[in-house]
Amino acid sequence: MKILVTGGTGYIGSHTVVELQAKGHEVIIIDNLSNSNINVLDAIEKISGIKPEFENFDLADMAKTEDFFQRNNDIDGIIHFAAFKAVGESVDNPLMYYRNNLYSLVNILQGMKDNSIPNLVFSSSCTVYGQPEELPVNEEAPVQKAESPYGNTKQISEEVIFDTTKASDIKAIALRYFNPIGAHESTEIGELPLGVPNNLMPFITQTAIGIREQLSVFGDDYNTPDGTAIRDYIHVVDLAQAHVIAVERMVNKNMKKDFEYFNLGTGNGYSVLEVIKSFEKVSEQKLNYKIVGRRAGDVEQVWADTNFANDELGWKAKKNIDEMTLSAWKWELKLQTEK
Ligand code: UFG
Repeated sequence: MKILVTGGTGYIGSHTVVELQAKGHEVIIIDNLSNSNINVLDAIEKISGIKPEFENFDLADMAKTEDFFQRNNDIDGIIHFAAFKAVGESVDNPLMYYRNNLYSLVNILQGMKDNSIPNLVFSSSCTVYGQPEELPVNEEAPVQKAESPYGNTKQISEEVIFDTTKASDIKAIALRYFNPIGAHESTEIGELPLGVPNNLMPFITQTAIGIREQLSVFGDDYNTPDGTAIRDYIHVVDLAQAHVIAVERMVNKNMKKDFEYFNLGTGNGYSVLEVIKSFEKVSEQKLNYKIVGRRAGDVEQVWADTNFANDELGWKAKKNIDEMTLSAWKWELKLQTEK
């Protein structure tokens, strides 16, 4: 299969490219490198032996996107990762988020429609559930009002896709990620946060290696066993493999509906303190952290009901929390040796 991966030099995108190549699929990447590095292409080649085809342009640019699809109308499926993803930044600059994340999606769907390319896998988020009333959260749970413009772009995108599948031959699968962490076992690719990380795992590893002085744990007064917030952390390679299965499901015409959506998590929730404990154990490092106040917009606890993804996709996350934190640490150590 010939698969277009937008945002293919990014964190989840690059891991997915490698898994696609491992299954023998041909990959074309589009990325404007706004939050990634061109060297990722060489890293992918080191792992798979194949350098993916690459085009550098902004998918929010309609003319360029149109031109691309006219030249590549033999694509079997598209996995669309390219998007901005920083919650705080989206609150400060909503228009930048709506323009980037929504224009690009609309342009891709138009290109698909005009060139009869039917299959789209979309990068969505558990953020669409907000704080669910029932845990674990399954796909039937209601979508709740987004806490941030970033989260809203994911909700609106799902609606744009759903409406388009109703009115055209386009089919789509939205994958709602829980919290991806870790890196490829080769340590050739991993997460490369720009500046101060927003997310927990890179903040932990950067603190342990001495780039950051101290980790702030945001709140210990939640209604959870140890008082800190609970998330469903999932290894990025497990997540990447689900994308390959999803795109193959579409191309092989195994979908049950024109628009499907799946939770991608492990089904296990871990508190911030449990993640820290796991990290300290596997890395044999003592982490400097302190408890501070809650972070605005954080939900208290969320983890996935993975039954639907397990049964329908025939996919299950394999890596446990210690394997995930160790993998994140090995990646940080590798980055350090490169400096
Ligand atoms: N946390 C800390 N200290 C930090 C960073 C995070 O205590 O320095 C805590 C958070 O408060 C939260 C947990 O660690 O309880 C996980 O936080 P992350 O920022 O790693 O992940 P989130 O669950 O906040 O973010 C996820 C996705 C985002 C998505 C968001 C929606 O990573 O893409 O859910 O709220 F937008």
